[in-house]
Amino acid sequence: MRILGTGSALPKLTVTNDRLAGFLDTSDEWIATRTGIRERRLLSDETLQSLAETASTRALENAGVAPGEIDFVLVTTVLAETLTPALAMDIQPAVGLKCMGLDLNAGCTGFVAALALAKGMMESGQARRILLVSAEALSRFVDWNDRTTCVLFGDAAAAVVLGEGEGVKAIAFDAEPRREVLCAETPPGNSPFAVDPAPATYLKMAGQEVYKFAVSHSLRDIRAMLDMQGLRPEDVDYYLLHQANLRILEGVRTRLRVDEARFPHDIEFTGNTSSCSVPLLLDVMNRDGRLTPGSRLIFSAFGAGLCTGTAYVEW
Ligand code: ACO
Repeated sequence: MRILGTGSALPKLTVTNDRLAGFLDTSDEWIATRTGIRERRLLSDETLQSLAETASTRALENAGVAPGEIDFVLVTTVLAETLTPALAMDIQPAVGLKCMGLDLNAGCTGFVAALALAKGMMESGQARRILLVSAEALSRFVDWNDRTTCVLFGDAAAAVVLGEGEGVKAIAFDAEPRREVLCAETPPGNSPFAVDPAPATYLKMAGQEVYKFAVSHSLRDIRAMLDMQGLRPEDVDYYLLHQANLRILEGVRTRLRVDEARFPHDIEFTGNTSSCSVPLLLDVMNRDGRLTPGSRLIFSAFGAGLCTGTAYVEW
């Protein structure tokens, strides 16, 4: 399987740290120093579905693939606007698709996890061209009174078109189920038979626990992938890590002892866009010419679960 094209879409509203400091006890200095984030894009009068449609259309155009050639759609999202049908079905009329689609949730690891499912489907002959879309709107379920979480996230959609070829070489996962460090609940519903349904909570996170997990596990996963491929850290052109915190990226980069140019980032302008962050950065780099045929890439993501995913890709 290889990546034939990329696309992305961001909400039009840019919210700076200073704007958040207008209603939260926070500051540009605190957020920028602790996370690297300076601004994020947030949904206002658009829908997540419209972003997913635009990202999909751009990816198809970039790949030179007609919508009718897609035979499966995978969407990664923590929470779409509609519980059912899946967002992977809802985007189809606007994008011109007509095929099976389903939504997947592996938190911020979703994109890498879905790559593995797509690869399996392609290798088993189930599909020849797959559209993989990551679409996230965490602004809808963080607590906007909680400065420890809401400042971190942004909304976005990003897509890749996948086809047959030699590009996505290897994918690996790990998991350490630890619900207590990162969790958001859906509303309990109104069943008269449910016993004492607990009130829903917004996203809750033990930031420092997630931070330690992210640095140690990302580093371990990347080293394992390098070993598996017989590569040294400096043999990889770009490490595309989940954009959760610039300090996490720096922690991994310095331990791998590679130069800054190999660890691209856009978290300054997007915040943490969950499963979108890797394909979003990939699209930026594809369009600005940083990726050339044969570029060696490692994708590495971590997220709720907790779970991690790592992929080695030759462009
Ligand atoms: N503005 C000002 N002060 C703040 C803010 C804020 N936005 N948030 C927290 N603080 C305060 C705290 O209340 C605390 O104050 P206190 O010392 O008086 O108690 C102080 O700052 C330090 O808080 P810490 O939580 O220790 O700050 P830390 O340096 O750990 O940074 C952060 C917090 C940025 C959340 C960091 O832990 C982190 O990035 N963790 C990883 C988060 C992550 O990756 N999440 C994504 C996971 S998966 C997914 O993407 C969905």
